Amino acid sequence: MQQPRPDRGVLGVLASGTGSILEAILGADLPVAVVVVDRPCRAMDVARDAGVPAQLVARTDFGAAFDRAAYTARVVEALERHGVQAVAMAGFGTVLSAAVFERFPGRVLNTHPALLPAFKGWHAVRAALEAGVAETGCTVHIATEAVDEGPILAQESVPVLPGDSEDSLHERIKAVERRLYPATIASFLTSINDKLETRT
Ligand code: GRF
Repeated sequence: MQQPRPDRGVLGVLASGTGSILEAILGADLPVAVVVVDRPCRAMDVARDAGVPAQLVARTDFGAAFDRAAYTARVVEALERHGVQAVAMAGFGTVLSAAVFERFPGRVLNTHPALLPAFKGWHAVRAALEAGVAETGCTVHIATEAVDEGPILAQESVPVLPGDSEDSLHERIKAVERRLYPATIASFLTSINDKLETRT
């Protein structure tokens, strides 16, 4: 385990899963202030092993009564507490409500494992496979309240190969995401640099 880094980051990363995209973001030495997860998951360990604060904002209700606005307020609070100025979603499994996009206008990024606008939604890789397309890919975009919409910053295609399973295809896409997403985040942060309040 590394020593905690000084709190110098501007980027908050939201994750729910294995955290391999998070690992790539951290490996690219992007200024990550905090990693917020909605459930216990490997992404938490990835953050801690890199010396970055990991905050579990536990989502306990996955049913119809889920209070999305209240949950979003807790996520925003966690991001604010760590001085976050831009957010990167990296496989975050909860759809957040308007408040996060209002608090960080035009500054919430997402990577999606398909060539948007094709195959929106959580099962994008499965949907591409079922549709029988010859290629799919990944899209980095500015996230908006409408899921998998928003201005596209980068896209790269990936072939669908004979015999592909959802896992094998997703892994081929993620290999690209691990390169494309950190590079796109880095350019994005540079482009908004004059608007960031840098702390020393
Ligand atoms: C990525 O494919 C991302 O596009 C999607 O979830 C996956 C996250 O992968 N939204 P990991 O948990 O970082 O390995």
